[in-house]
Amino acid sequence: MAGLLTLLAENATIVISGARIAREIGVSRSMVFQWVKRLRELGVHVKGHPGTGYFLEKVPDILTPDMLRQRLKGSLFGKHIYHFFKIDSTNRVALELGHAGEPEGAVVLAEEQTAGRGRVGRAWQSDRAAGIYVTLLLRPKISPVQAPLLTMMAGLSARAAILAQIGTAPDLKWPNDLLLGGEKVGGILTEMHAEPSQVRFVIVGIGLNVNQERFSGDLASTATSLRIETGRQQSRLELLVRLLREFESDYNRFLHEGPAAITPKFEAVSSYARGKRVRVTSGAATFLGVTAGLGPEGLLQVKRDDGQVVTVISGDVTEAR
Ligand code: BTN
Repeated sequence: MAGLLTLLAENATIVISGARIAREIGVSRSMVFQWVKRLRELGVHVKGHPGTGYFLEKVPDILTPDMLRQRLKGSLFGKHIYHFFKIDSTNRVALELGHAGEPEGAVVLAEEQTAGRGRVGRAWQSDRAAGIYVTLLLRPKISPVQAPLLTMMAGLSARAAILAQIGTAPDLKWPNDLLLGGEKVGGILTEMHAEPSQVRFVIVGIGLNVNQERFSGDLASTATSLRIETGRQQSRLELLVRLLREFESDYNRFLHEGPAAITPKFEAVSSYARGKRVRVTSGAATFLGVTAGLGPEGLLQVKRDDGQVVTVISGDVTEAR
């Protein structure tokens, strides 16, 4: 089906007969008919009918592997791209691929997630073709304690991609949130499979709110999108290509230089790293304090109101006023 979409997108506005489509992508005409039906169900505006042929009125903003591969030639992330129109969670798929021995650099993408996972058991709203829902499979030779640095690194990569796309840099909230105007525009969920001293693989799931026009319920006051912030529709393909290029160069630097490639940069650009009054919630415990920089492995230091400096290993950090 991705082949059909690529053919139509590359010839947008040109009517192509069902017979030619069938020949070019090597399937039967009835299969072409079935796939056109399925694409329409998934919201792609395919015009025409079997008698005349089919065409797209405009190139759809769908993240097809062919288009991505063309843009990512020679890149770590241009080789194994798994694209789903609808899936429960790209992190779930990437974990399975990791266990099955899939090599480093695999990219799992979805137009829509039905059970997108967020941190601390939350759900990630993943409406069709509105955001970027992507998970990257990595096999770095690092110890498990360094894996959280990849979450922060992904935040830096996504920040740079958004800055290049809209000219405004999001703030980073330790460890994994991207904020525009104080509202959440993206999040990262890293999961890993490791032995005590060696990571087997890490999957980095990135969710970015791109073309949502509004959010409902609890998210209405806490989430935003690039579309809401700029007033303009944004190309998800451009943003994803930027993100994957930034990620690859940040990742290579991390492999060569270690934590020094990430921690100082994160401290420099995150308003949360130092001097921010925060509430930290970890399990049932909550305390207030002021952030006091990052430790060597990227863990947040917080000076509690009783004067004690503690290291936050996991948990939720929110601004306290
Ligand atoms: C968070 O801020 O809570 C993390 C959100 C991570 C969402 C992304 S979307 C792609 C990938 N697949 C998932 O199920 N979750 C991550």
